[in-house]
Amino acid sequence: MIIGVPKEIKNNEFRVGLVPGGVRALTQAGCRVLIQKSAGEGSGIADADYILAGAEIRETAGDVYDAAGMIVKVKEPLPAEYGLIKPGQILFTYLHLAPAPDLTRALLARDCIAVGYETVQKEDGSLPLLHPMSEVAGRVAPQVGAYYLEKAYGGRGILLGGVPGVERGKVTIVGGGIAGINACKIAVGLGADVAVLDINLNRLAYLDDIFGNKIQTLMANPEHIAQQAAVSDVLIGAVLVPGATAPKLVTRDMVSTMAKGSVVIDISIDQGGCIETSRPTTHQNPVFTVSDVIHYCVTNIPGAVPRTSTYALTNVTLPYALKIAGKGFRQAVLSDPSLAGGVNLYRGSITCEGVSQAMNQQFESIETLLG
Ligand SMILES: NC(=O)c1ccc[n+]([C@@H]2O[C@H](COP(=O)([O-])OP(=O)(O)OC[C@H]3O[C@@H](n4cnc5c(N)ncnc54)[C@H](O)[C@@H]3O)[C@@H](O)[C@H]2O)c1
Repeated sequence: MIIGVPKEIKNNEFRVGLVPGGVRALTQAGCRVLIQKSAGEGSGIADADYILAGAEIRETAGDVYDAAGMIVKVKEPLPAEYGLIKPGQILFTYLHLAPAPDLTRALLARDCIAVGYETVQKEDGSLPLLHPMSEVAGRVAPQVGAYYLEKAYGGRGILLGGVPGVERGKVTIVGGGIAGINACKIAVGLGADVAVLDINLNRLAYLDDIFGNKIQTLMANPEHIAQQAAVSDVLIGAVLVPGATAPKLVTRDMVSTMAKGSVVIDISIDQGGCIETSRPTTHQNPVFTVSDVIHYCVTNIPGAVPRTSTYALTNVTLPYALKIAGKGFRQAVLSDPSLAGGVNLYRGSITCEGVSQAMNQQFESIETLLG
């Protein structure tokens, strides 16, 4: 199989879909790997490093897409890339299709096979290919909150850890999954007063075991979220219903009760956002203000730390890329239900329930289609 790795073109996106170690593993497995010129530069990987590992460098994204059976990348294709995708081509990347009807329609029209990292799901419900990026985004979020709380950036002028004799800042995290627990670790590390809300009581019990009385855990319901929002300096949204559009748990009214210069960070923005006042932002223009509350809603937070993120991501994606390349798409998917869960679109059909609901279009099982 020919594997193609284009350079990411999303705003300030410096991650890349494969590192030289991945190229080596794929070429040893009998694949050819085509890397677009300077695709790894933003992550500190030179073309020469890829060549040493056995890759071939191609000048343009078009050269890569034209030849490849499978495209391995990081972020969803942008409109400039839609026309490059070929019928039957496997697209292995983050997609987040449920809140993106235009992208979904474009990929359906391209007749491709779209495998979304974010819906590859193991039997225990975990999302192995989302996991490392949620770790990164969760850990970045309190740093971002601390930064925008500074007066010079429009914030309340509060130090999250306080100092002896002065109150600490208050951080509320809605959604205590992977992003949530990582945000919690850093917020606790900064010395903030932290509350985590989730609807999963087992998860709250786990967080309580891990953090003890360093944090407050609360069942996520409108009353508790409203109470916490009103007293938060930083509110982090980190909920997920896999494959589906995020529920709007923090309403406009709740945001309007927050103090002037407090900060909301909607990590769930890639699934449409869990804060009613959110809209997607970029690393170039990361924030906007609603009701005097600073909103940070960057859809590719890990792109801020590409060296860490590229290696963390490819650690988990490579085994799946190797499986698809080694067994072929059909055998790989039929032999691995977690990979089957990643198939969002198959040659014009929607094969992910969350996406079919969001598009109000028929769901078709990938196993049946491949049958
Ligand atoms: N913006 C970015 O750059 C970026 C990067 C990585 C991940 N993400 C996103 O972060 C979000 C969280 O990802 P994750 O890996 O932590 O997911 P996860 O599945 O590990 O955790 C989600 C948590 O949300 C909880 N939840 C679900 N519905 C809820 C509700 N109604 N009220 C309260 N809690 C609820 C679940 O119980 C779970 O504990 C996802 O949307 C993911 O795509 C965004």
